[in-house]
Formats: sequence, C-alpha cells, structure tokens
Amino acid sequence: MSRPVSAPRGTRDLLPKDGPAWSRVEEIARDLSSRYGFDRIETPLFERIELFSRGLGESSDAVEKEMFRVSGAAGGVEEQSEWALRPEPTVGIVRAYLEHGMHVLPGPQRLWMIGPMFRYDRPQAGRFRQFVQWDVEVIGDPGPMVDAEIIELGHRFYAEAGVTDVIAYVNSIGDATCRPGYRAALIEYFGAHEARLTDDSRRRLRVNPLRVLDGKDLDPELAAGAPRSADHLCDACRAHFAAVQALLDDLGVRYEVDNRIVRGLDYYTRTTFEFFVAGRRGQQQALGGGGRYDGLVELLGGSSTPGIGFGIGIDRTVLAAAEQGVTLTAGTPLIAVVGADTDALAFRLKVAAILREEGLRVRVDGSSRKLGRQLESAAKLGARFAVLVDPLLADGIVILRDLEASEQREIRLDEVPGAITM
Ligand code: HAM
Repeated sequence: MSRPVSAPRGTRDLLPKDGPAWSRVEEIARDLSSRYGFDRIETPLFERIELFSRGLGESSDAVEKEMFRVSGAAGGVEEQSEWALRPEPTVGIVRAYLEHGMHVLPGPQRLWMIGPMFRYDRPQAGRFRQFVQWDVEVIGDPGPMVDAEIIELGHRFYAEAGVTDVIAYVNSIGDATCRPGYRAALIEYFGAHEARLTDDSRRRLRVNPLRVLDGKDLDPELAAGAPRSADHLCDACRAHFAAVQALLDDLGVRYEVDNRIVRGLDYYTRTTFEFFVAGRRGQQQALGGGGRYDGLVELLGGSSTPGIGFGIGIDRTVLAAAEQGVTLTAGTPLIAVVGADTDALAFRLKVAAILREEGLRVRVDGSSRKLGRQLESAAKLGARFAVLVDPLLADGIVILRDLEASEQREIRLDEVPGAITM
C-alpha cells in the first residue's frame, strides 16, 4: 500500500465534528452583516501581486515574507508569478469598489464578506497558512461615529458567539499630516537603543518604524519608554480619536487605549484596534483587528476617500469558544426517520421528504435492522428525535420519540415540526 498524502502544513480540514460550531459562527457573521446594513461582496481568491504590494506596502510581512505566489501554467513566462493568493480582503474589496464604479453610488458603501485568506507564515497554534476571515468595510465615511459602530459590531459578534471577556485595544496612529513627525520620533528613540533591538526590529526600524512597536521580542522596558502616537497627533486626528473614545464610552463598549496597536499592514491611518480575550496578548492571539485606511482608495487609483473595517478570524473565534467551554450548535435538531417494516422504505422516504419540506434536518434509515438498533444508531449520529413510521398506524400518524428523554407518543405527521421546535 502506498503512503497516504497528507494536507499541506498550516492547513486544516474542517471535519463533521467541527461543522456545527463553524456553521454557527458563520451564521452569526452573516446575520450581523445584514442587521448592521452591510451588503455582500465576493472578490477572487487571487489577485495581481501589484495590488498587494501597492495596497499593503512592500515592507509589510504579508507582502515581504508571507506571499503565496500563483503561477499560471498555461501562460508565457512573463505571465507566471504574476498573482498571489489573497493574504487579506481589504485591498481586493477596494479594487472592486473602484473597478465597478461603486464610488459614484449614493452613500458610504458598507460591504462584507467571509472567506479563506492565505499567508505563508510559520504555522503554530492559532496561526495557519489558510484561515477564514469575516470582513466588513465601510468606504466613504470619515467617522468617528462609524469607527465606534464597527468596534461595537466586533464586540457583538464575540458576545453572540459566546466568547466572553473580550476587550478591544484601540489606538490612533495619525495621518499623513502627523505620522511623519511620529515616525521621526520613533527613529530617534529606537535608533539610540539599536543594540537592544532584534535583527527583525532593526530591519523594521529602517522600513516601517511603527512596526518596531509590535515586534514580538521587543524589550518591554524599551517599549514602555517609546514615544506614544497619541502624543504626536495633529489637532484633527486628536479630535477624531477623542470622539471615537467618547462614543465607545457612551455605548459601554469594553476597550482600552494601547499605543502598541500599530497593525501590520501599511494602509492604516488614525483609528486602529484589535480584539483579544483579556490578558491574552501576542500576535497569534488576536481574535480580530482593523482600523481606518483613509489613504488606501487614493493609493489604488481612486480619489481621496476614507475607509474603515475589520477582519475577524473565524478559526480563532471557534478555538476561543471551545477553550471557554462554549458549545455552538447550528440549525434545527437532527431527526432520524426509522421503521420496522422493511417493505415500507418508500413510506420512510416519503415521511422524510415531508419533514424536509418543512425545513427540518432529517436522516432516513433505510436498513432492515431491528428498530432498537436503528434507534441506537440514530442517537449515535446525534439525532435528538426519531420519527417511527409504521404502515399499521392510522393514516398520517407516526410515533415521535425523544431520544434524550426516551419518551414517545403517537402524533400526526403534520404536528411533528411544531412538536420538536417547542
Ligand atoms: P489582520 O489583523 O491581518 O487584519 O487579520 C485579521 C484577523 O485575522 C486577525 O486578528 C486574526 O484573528 C486572523 N488571522 C490573521 N492571520 C491569521 C493566521 N495566519 N491564522 C489564523 N488567523 C489569522 C486584516 O487582515 C485587515 N484586512 C483587517 C481590516 C479590514 N482592516 C480594515 N479592514
């Protein structure tokens, strides 16, 4: 026998046992997107590399170290390695926004999507090479109200997914007016302490000094003494950040200002934030993150347009819920249709079809095993109820058995949906 082929490192198979939790979390994301007035958008899983290098910045880890390149086998040499799997959705969404003239549509565009992202990073707990994000973007709204609305939405998502003790760490990293001054202050400070920086931080200091602050091995003492972006904001950015905080206070949203939330992608301006379970910091612990990107639309060829959004890691949300002992279930309870009469298979199928038409989740047992065996295996498959069909019963009557309580009663078939959703 030949050796079986395994899945690529850093990827995961979603198995049936994980299905209900995943489905539930995705269902909450879809439902909240709709309740908060977002419209669905889908963009390709791969885009031109140029889009990522322009939008995310050549120096971002996503572009510099983690790009999954895609080469076209059929194309000429020059066409190969022209694309990359998307490491994140925001730039693709902004590309689509511009390409399809959404900027001339009325009102800010509120867009959402859910789907896989790809980063060629070293896999470890909570960090995968393929992972799923729920993403929301608001393009064309300068805030600050929408900043608070988005952060509140993130909180609501975790609350509905049953993940407790979530906190949003928020910061403002300024804009084109005040960021250069802040960058200069960081270069001066960390430059004077270069010997205490890791090689990676030294490299970051040259290409993007803000990112020295979120380097994972940064000396805590050095970090504590570093210039704070909040002290370098221009008047407009300071007023914006104060307004965001006031709104969050009024909403009663749990947050803390943290000057180290600078984010790993270059497009951010002003408000940045990340969600964590309180006390669980570290790069692969973030449950979600986002911020404002007021310069991105222009950078990708449009006119100056503000934007803000977040990406929430579905994998990490499901893991956090499991760690906290939350059982997430999706859909209606499973019903097994069983029967003692092996000649009446058509009858079992018909009953199953009627229940399915009512929107119920049904598995039908087509075996000739004894009834007890059929009920046993129904319970093992996770069925909550069994519907026993028997041609000897009166027309339209079945037996509804509660497999947990081991109780059963005769009931009219058309009453089953009502009886099991009670
Ligand atoms: P991000 O912080 O790079 O932001 O990713 C958002 C979330 O995706 C993270 O907080 C984390 O939960 C999850 N995530 C990221 N990388 C991995 C990984 N390797 N394995 C598992 N989960 C991961 C963005 O992507 C921005 N586009 C968010 C945004 C939208 N900003 C504005 N709009």
